[in-house]
Amino acid sequence: MKKTLAMLTGLAMAFSLTACGGSTTAATTAAAETTAAAQTEAEKAPETEAEKSGNDKLVVGFAQIGQESGWRDAETNDVQWYAARNTDTIELTFADAQQKQENQIKAIRNFIEMGVDVIVFPPVVETGWEAVLTECQEAGIPVILVDRGIDASAGDDLYTTMIASDHVWAGEQAAIVMNDLLGGKGKVVELEGTVGASAAVQRKKGFDEYIAANCPDIEILDSQTGDFTRSMGKEVMESFLKTYDDIDAVFCHNDDMALGAIEAIKEAGKKPGEDIKIIGVDGVKGAFEAILAGEMNCTVECTPILAEQIFETAAKLKNGETVDKWIMSADGVYTSDKVTQEVVDGRQY
Ligand code: AHR
Repeated sequence: MKKTLAMLTGLAMAFSLTACGGSTTAATTAAAETTAAAQTEAEKAPETEAEKSGNDKLVVGFAQIGQESGWRDAETNDVQWYAARNTDTIELTFADAQQKQENQIKAIRNFIEMGVDVIVFPPVVETGWEAVLTECQEAGIPVILVDRGIDASAGDDLYTTMIASDHVWAGEQAAIVMNDLLGGKGKVVELEGTVGASAAVQRKKGFDEYIAANCPDIEILDSQTGDFTRSMGKEVMESFLKTYDDIDAVFCHNDDMALGAIEAIKEAGKKPGEDIKIIGVDGVKGAFEAILAGEMNCTVECTPILAEQIFETAAKLKNGETVDKWIMSADGVYTSDKVTQEVVDGRQY
């Protein structure tokens, strides 16, 4: 809006200077009227959500978890790319908490101090946010949780909205595909995400509960954290392979750990995707490539492309509008029959 008004004022000034043949006062008055009319028009028709929120830029503080996975990098790139393309309406302050909750809390307190319009963050773990979120509330700053939630017992009035996938659904979808892949019978290990992260807790809940309720001949032999990283996924899979010689499949809470597990399985002299079935979550390009190569069997999507929704929602909140408590992402399930070269090439992250 600011930019539009500046252009209109400039045009009006140009008009008053070129109209010097007649009375300067008349020209200036006409120009002022033109500006006022045009301003009213511009005010009547805001162009973007950010503009709807007023003349000022939308100031957003984003406290990112870190860089644990390719998925996380994709989310960061999307947010920074979107803000960089909209610098006339958005001002983004970005902090990388390097996987530490205390750093995320520090960054949020810093955003409160700066007086940002909206605070956005994916909670690294579910618990321990009451104090800092109460401070956000007291400062009157809306909070958008992205891609992960907080423990429900803390009360959902501590944040304004959450933009995220349904992680319980993802776990259930993985279990349904696992049951198909194993023909209803087999031994499974599970590579969990970061301990206490909602994405890990809920994917596990969805998977384990579906298997327990519907697959009497599928046994979950072991389940340990690989912290959502490729290196730990590999390490923990190596240890599973040493402990159990009859693993039929592995459910990994993200694709990075699945890619690490593939390396471990190959190094153990087995064929990933055949001797040991592999299901991941995220839908990153690397997983699609592995599925196409026959080394992985499925990935349940969890989109990291959230920037447009984040900034549009933030602008609405700045503008005093109400939004849904959970803005859920629409995700797909990619089994090998759905992954073609075209699908791989079409994936940007
Ligand atoms: O919260 C989303 C999860 O966090 C993604 O599945 C994972 O890759 C990331 O680290």
